[in-house]
Amino acid sequence: MSDAAKDTLTVTDNRTGETYEMPITDGSIRTMDLRQIKVSEDDFGLLGYDPGFKNTASCRSDITYIDGAAGILRYRGYPIEQLAEKSSFLEVAYLLIHGELPDQTQAESWVHEITHHTFIHENIKTFIDGFHHDAHPMGMLVSTVGALSTFYPEAKDSLDAATRQQQIVRLIAKFPTLAAFAYRHSIGMRYAYPDNDLSFAGNFLNMMYKTTELKYEPDPVLEKAMDTLFILHADHEQNCSTTTMRVIGSSDADPYSAAAGATAALYGPKHGGANEAVLKMLEEIGSVDNVAEAVEGAKNGNFRLMGFGHRVYKNYDPRARIISKLAHDVFEVTGKNPLLDIAVELEKHALEDDYFVSRKLYPNVDFYSGLIYQAMGFPTTMFPVLFAMGRIPGWVAQWEENLLDPEQAIARPRQLYVGSGARDYVDMPNR
Ligand code: CMC
Repeated sequence: MSDAAKDTLTVTDNRTGETYEMPITDGSIRTMDLRQIKVSEDDFGLLGYDPGFKNTASCRSDITYIDGAAGILRYRGYPIEQLAEKSSFLEVAYLLIHGELPDQTQAESWVHEITHHTFIHENIKTFIDGFHHDAHPMGMLVSTVGALSTFYPEAKDSLDAATRQQQIVRLIAKFPTLAAFAYRHSIGMRYAYPDNDLSFAGNFLNMMYKTTELKYEPDPVLEKAMDTLFILHADHEQNCSTTTMRVIGSSDADPYSAAAGATAALYGPKHGGANEAVLKMLEEIGSVDNVAEAVEGAKNGNFRLMGFGHRVYKNYDPRARIISKLAHDVFEVTGKNPLLDIAVELEKHALEDDYFVSRKLYPNVDFYSGLIYQAMGFPTTMFPVLFAMGRIPGWVAQWEENLLDPEQAIARPRQLYVGSGARDYVDMPNR
């Protein structure tokens, strides 16, 4: 920028010839500054039109940084690679929520708090029992998370810091219990209660898979893999479900209701359901010999390679790189998922093909995660549930940031009305 350059944008409205100057801060203009651009005194002013919020920053946030072109993901400044290798899910949750890594005392008290809030009210079991035997666990989760607000009515006082912290602990602690109970109900097995001697991930595996043994002992490799997968999903800035969490929270609704909404947003196949689609695609391809043909099919627009491409990442998704390494550790224990060879071959073909290279289509987080989940015994219906369990700390950190941001207000976008003008009601016989 030359010395004379200014951090402003000058716009000329060709309808009126008027010129306006507006400040540029952090690479953005305030859409509200457009409102001064009018053709007449009674004109409402210019609006920004942005379906899907593709070019709208909805908040200022200091939680998660993504550089999609460079394939960088950081939580509170810490690279995801270092957190995945050295940290634990609960420590990452603390980091996302409090902004700093905990010291020894803070870490112990945080883990103790979460561990001692894993039990759910017995009445919740009663209404899980009421779901149909083949109810999708994600549907059960949406309902039971929302229902927590009826057990903790004080949660609606979300502007009180201590109340907020208590609900944050409860949400992180009880979410795995609700998730595992939903799974047990769907397969008709009695619920396995939380075991406070186990780690967060170990206890989740216990509630999922415990059968007749007196004490469930998780395999340490699978326990670590589960924990790492939760870390990789813990936050991803303003995605669909996180935006939902913020939007619901902006009305001062309690965090259980907001988390139910966020979980519902994650349920959609465009968001939390892509890893299930990857498995289906690999099964359909069926053999390494069919990979070349499948890649040609994707290039011809017959279908999309599931687990490839990303709205933000135009480089290798850093989470996918970590997951592909993790897959090898898991398969050492569980035996190799037979679909892995097809996945590896598919990735190799695509990354050598100009169609994918020129469009910057790389494997995303979902490409390998489903293979690991399947090898660990999770049914595909549980895949979005696992995603939601990992994402809870991100949701609550973003919800709290939104509540405490003095610039935020109740989310209420504008619209461009394109319907009919005023017209008189027509009686039934005359329609
Ligand atoms: N396979 C083949 N072609 C593709 C793919 C794909 N997976 N993804 C994008 N393209 C092509 C697309 O046809 C278009 O080509 P052209 O320019 O010739 O029309 C070009 O690449 C750009 O695509 P786009 O749809 O404009 O890109 P987008 O940023 O809107 O879409 C996406 C991003 C993730 C929806 C898309 O890449 C996709 O559908 N991928 C498969 C589904 C998937 O894996 N989703 C999981 C996302 S990661 C989960 C998370 O982080 O929450």
